[in-house]
Amino acid sequence: MNQSHKIAIKVAIIYIIIGVLWIIITDSFSMTQAKEDVQTYAMFQHSKGWMFIFITGIFLYIIIRYWTGKMLSSQQEFNLKDEQYQSLFKHNPDCVLELNLEGNVVSINPEAEKLLGHQSDNLKGKNANHLINWNESEKVSVFFTQSLQGEAVKFETTIQNMSDEKRIIRVTFLPIIVQTEMLGVYAIVRDITELRREEELMIMSEKLSVIGHLAAAVAHEIRNPLTSLKGFVQLMDMTKEVNPIHSDIMLKEIDRINIISSELLVLGKKQDVALCKIDLGDCLQQVYTLMKAETNLNNIEMGYQVKKAEPVYIMADSIELKQMVINIVKNSIEAVSDNGKIGISLDAIDDYAVISVSDNGIGMVPERLKRIGEPFYSTKERGTGIGLAICQKIIHRLDGEMHFESEKNKGTTVTIRIPLATML
Ligand SMILES: Nc1ncnc2c1ncn2[C@@H]1O[C@H](COP(=O)(O)OP(=O)(O)OP(=O)(O)O)[C@@H](O)[C@H]1O
Ligand SMILES: [Mg+2]
Repeated sequence: MNQSHKIAIKVAIIYIIIGVLWIIITDSFSMTQAKEDVQTYAMFQHSKGWMFIFITGIFLYIIIRYWTGKMLSSQQEFNLKDEQYQSLFKHNPDCVLELNLEGNVVSINPEAEKLLGHQSDNLKGKNANHLINWNESEKVSVFFTQSLQGEAVKFETTIQNMSDEKRIIRVTFLPIIVQTEMLGVYAIVRDITELRREEELMIMSEKLSVIGHLAAAVAHEIRNPLTSLKGFVQLMDMTKEVNPIHSDIMLKEIDRINIISSELLVLGKKQDVALCKIDLGDCLQQVYTLMKAETNLNNIEMGYQVKKAEPVYIMADSIELKQMVINIVKNSIEAVSDNGKIGISLDAIDDYAVISVSDNGIGMVPERLKRIGEPFYSTKERGTGIGLAICQKIIHRLDGEMHFESEKNKGTTVTIRIPLATML
């Protein structure tokens, strides 16, 4: 029953009630007047019809005005809502398709016309499944049935547009429920083909940047042995003598460069490192000898102390381990100025080997200390910020830990704890 019909019925009922009440009240009034005052009775009889018309006229005017006013304002509100909805539908940057319970197109917005390359009139009444690529239509039908149960369903699928171009779309099926009655489904469609392309490009460029970072890491590791080789050659040049210990170390360093270069060829595919039992004292002695040439050249005093009489064994890869200690000692060399001091020591406490590298260099403020080990964090002009990140990785693999103590302008102590080898 529409609103105007309801108002007409209400007005008729009120008219009847007023009429009945009027007759009852005026009749009983007339009866008493007829007995008491015949003149008043005659006057009342003459004017009661006019009075009825006048009173009901005013009354009906007030209530009809009140009800129709209410009806008009709700109609206006409805029109406004409808316009708002139409605007949302027409100007939506997403494609919107209104589908009935069978999945047939009722209407589509201009954005959907653009995507599908069809005018709204050409699609009306056609089943939306024809728009989807045939191999996806079964899956879409399942989602459609699911949304008819009152659920909003999101999924991705592909369509072939008018120019036979494959487009990737993200669809949301929203059930249209009006006064608890299911009328159909809104399909809100977004073309995500470009987004996907951009994502692919991003993944690709991310891969390239990872390769770039790896290449930087490898270059960094080659720089270390090259520095010591340079030191030894400069030393030989000065002394005009060939020291067999030095040439042995130089050959080992050349081997290291060789290994690192091979790593460059298998970027990212890190081969499993074979851990074996190594004498940490021997290993540190080699690093010490290696770095000594550089510290001598820079007027830096460097000492090495072994606090345990017995050999300290750990399970590690000797090349990796040396690489780690070199990185830390190199940082100390870079932190101290002329006449600086660096101390390397080895101890075994509880079940751990404890390596300590301390310097009296520039040190670090607590904020900088917090960022230690963060890949690519460097305060040096030519630093890559990879040195300590590599150390962290190596130590982590050995189930060890690295600890920094530092004070600005006083110096830094790096303590490394690695579990002792339990195997014989
Ligand atoms: N012994 C130290 N004294 C003072 N600062 C240090 C010390 N060791 C590390 N740092 C700080 O930590 C930062 C990161 O060190 P890391 O070895 O990872 O990279 P880097 O030395 O800057 O560059 P790279 O090692 O790649 O040449 C350094 O830039 C420096 O600021
Ligand atoms: Mg470094």
